[in-house]
Amino acid sequence: MFKKLLGFFSSSIAIDLGTANTLVYMHGKGIILDEPSMVALAVDKSGMGKKILAVGQEAKVMLGKTPGQIEVVRPMKDGVIADFNVTEQMIKYFIKKVSAQKILMSVPPTIVICVPCGSTQVERRAIKDAALAAGARRVELIEEAMAAAIGAGLPVESPRASMVVDIGGGTTEVGVISLGGLVYANSIRVAGDRLDEVISNHIRARHGLLIGEATAEEIKKQIGSAHPDTDNGEMEIRGRSVYDGLPKKIIVTSSEIREALHDALDQMVSAVKQALELTPPELAADMIDSGIVLTGGGALLRGLDILFTETTQLKVVVADEPLLCVAKGCGMALDHLSDQRVYLNRNK
Ligand SMILES: Nc1ncnc2c1ncn2[C@@H]1O[C@H](COP(=O)(O)OP(=O)(O)OP(=O)(O)O)[C@@H](O)[C@H]1O
Ligand SMILES: [Mg+2]
Repeated sequence: MFKKLLGFFSSSIAIDLGTANTLVYMHGKGIILDEPSMVALAVDKSGMGKKILAVGQEAKVMLGKTPGQIEVVRPMKDGVIADFNVTEQMIKYFIKKVSAQKILMSVPPTIVICVPCGSTQVERRAIKDAALAAGARRVELIEEAMAAAIGAGLPVESPRASMVVDIGGGTTEVGVISLGGLVYANSIRVAGDRLDEVISNHIRARHGLLIGEATAEEIKKQIGSAHPDTDNGEMEIRGRSVYDGLPKKIIVTSSEIREALHDALDQMVSAVKQALELTPPELAADMIDSGIVLTGGGALLRGLDILFTETTQLKVVVADEPLLCVAKGCGMALDHLSDQRVYLNRNK
């Protein structure tokens, strides 16, 4: 009886704790929070510790524009926790924010949270512990590729295999799913963040201009492309000259950015090819019909689907709302928490 009551009053939420964005799904409500995984910290008055100034969207607007005592950090790196305390605080803040929307959330929530396939036991434990420390009553983990496949609407329960490639900020996850489980999963730490880094290195080396993280990401979104068919002209950018330290503006072209991105994109292609090679033959054969579905924010890079189609000879499509797939998939796993489906990593 008590358990039943507890279930009634408490809320279940699913969290896509991403390197770039954190999304929260609440049972019966869908996605109720979508914010950058960023925290602004300031040295507190004693000068000893750091106190949290802002989290999420509010912290992102401060990126690259903060005075000396304030820094904006991303506590997740490569899909795993880089700073435990700040991650815990960030999760706590987001839980608090969503509970404010639900009066009945007086009992600590059950949380389903996703982890990259390539994360170690220690890294998984850290995510679980951070969620528990942030106030969760129970935490279940789900592999990100599995969540992406469910959220993209792939027939994960079917004996016919399907492949999902989730390109986030920190990791690219490749998963082959059949009969409700991951038959093959791999994750490489090359994704959206690496593309931004490659773009800033290119701009510095070719044009002698220093740009911030936000500008590099903007270049990728505006004129970035993975295939010549999707060339998107040119763009004026501003930064600081490495030669005289003065502000300067230059024009960069879509084709030079594509050239700069080539090697990093090639690593993603290799990860997909490796998955096809290592998948059992019968399942690999299924992919001729089912093709590959791309999810994650990285899937929005222009021409990425064409690049994958050309390099794998398979049909490649970008999922609807790729940025939301993992959160939706975590949420659907949460909705099925009581039936014994095999989506979750119960022993991890
Ligand atoms: N239009 C776009 N073109 C290219 N890249 C984009 C676009 N929109 C978003 N991105 C990139 O998508 C990435 C964020 O995607 P997503 O939210 O799926 O990552 P994440 O889940 O936080 O990261 P991870 O799963 O690796 O922990 C960022 O690198 C962002 O720059
Ligand atoms: Mg993700």
